[in-house]
Amino acid sequence: MVTGRPERNSAGAEAALRVLLVTSDPDVLEALRRSFRAPGFTVAGEAWPGIDAVRRAAALRPDVVMMHVEEPIVPALRTAQALADASSAGLAIISSVDDLETVRRVMNAGAHDFATLPLSDDELRDAANRAAAAAGRRAAITSSGPTTPQRSSTSGRVITIASARGGTGKSTIAANLGIELARTKQAGVVVVDLDLLFGSVAMMLDTLPDIGIQEWKRDRAKNPSGAVSPYLTETRSGVRLLAAPTDPDAELEITPADVADLVTDLSSTYDYVVIDTAAGYSEVTGAALERATLPVLVSTPEIGALRAVHYVVDRLRAHGDVTERMSLLINYARAYTTVHELPADPGVDVRWEIRHDVQVLRAAAAGVPVSMHKAGSMFSRSLREIASSIEDHDGSRRRVLGVM
Ligand SMILES: Nc1ncnc2c1ncn2[C@@H]1O[C@H](COP(=O)(O)OP(=O)(O)O)[C@@H](O)[C@H]1O
Ligand SMILES: [Mg+2]
Repeated sequence: MVTGRPERNSAGAEAALRVLLVTSDPDVLEALRRSFRAPGFTVAGEAWPGIDAVRRAAALRPDVVMMHVEEPIVPALRTAQALADASSAGLAIISSVDDLETVRRVMNAGAHDFATLPLSDDELRDAANRAAAAAGRRAAITSSGPTTPQRSSTSGRVITIASARGGTGKSTIAANLGIELARTKQAGVVVVDLDLLFGSVAMMLDTLPDIGIQEWKRDRAKNPSGAVSPYLTETRSGVRLLAAPTDPDAELEITPADVADLVTDLSSTYDYVVIDTAAGYSEVTGAALERATLPVLVSTPEIGALRAVHYVVDRLRAHGDVTERMSLLINYARAYTTVHELPADPGVDVRWEIRHDVQVLRAAAAGVPVSMHKAGSMFSRSLREIASSIEDHDGSRRRVLGVM
């Protein structure tokens, strides 16, 4: 992305994010001014919704446009679309209207983030940061252009998410953990969808990829040392995706050696590689777990599910010390469940719990990842906590975090 000015100098100090405030409501304007009168931000200008906003965005070249939208929504959609066409800024929409249809239409019009009013100063700044990250205006995410992610000095962390059974929330967790890692660490993140039959991460990240692991594997026959990055899809959430085939009948055979090569390539380029897998145990899943710096099993808290976890853990003993590094995440944890009260021994320590959260389903219905739809939701907060715990505790014996 060419922005005409460096956003992060070589010493790593971050330039202030330049924000254009767009609203016709004096109270909202006052709240926005107050929020962005903070370190790390500068108000680049203020504009009325409509053509004024589009002109000013083109002239001022802000990093982020914070646009306040209320009914009637249609003119706002037109403005959003014109802004997306006229400017490469991140576009964050704030609104007291939060029905799913509106959110969906606004996001489709080119917005990068949507947040529901009322919002605290922190939440407004978070929305701006998210929109900036999603639009690639944060140097850490697209410092050298959209197709060349930041290379960390050491190789990136690899988080493989697996589960013994389907429907435990594995893909939802993988997609949203990717988003939260990109946000909280200001890092380059790629999500790999290794659920080769029923991959759902593309849908969860609201994208329709036309390239992915199938094409990578096909071309590899001709060019075995070819890089993986040309096969990635950019998503609005700021993370990149190596998509699974869209057709379950696709004849695709990925081997454990393929997985090893994918992980080596991607972890040399990205700060975080998050791998979603098919339910159950397979050699491919085993290879992805074995290569992970943080292997995670997801389970629901029922007795049958926990026994299935134990079975997978036993299978994994053939994969070196992977079970030593393994963490268990209990999803749909119940209010009364503590980690000590599980009805069966899963054979691995519980490190995190996430509760059932209706916002996950509402976001899924809107076709927006929950961490973009409702960043303040319990689910997103749990994932944020997990994301921020990863670096600090990775590799050490686990502690229980995220138990609310
Ligand atoms: N903590 C949660 N609260 C509410 N719904 C959830 C939660 N976690 C997952 N879900 C929902 O459960 C369903 C299955 O999730 P998914 O990620 O597809 O599971 P898996 O990949 O393990 O098969 C989805 O509809 C998802 O939105
Ligand atoms: Mg899945």
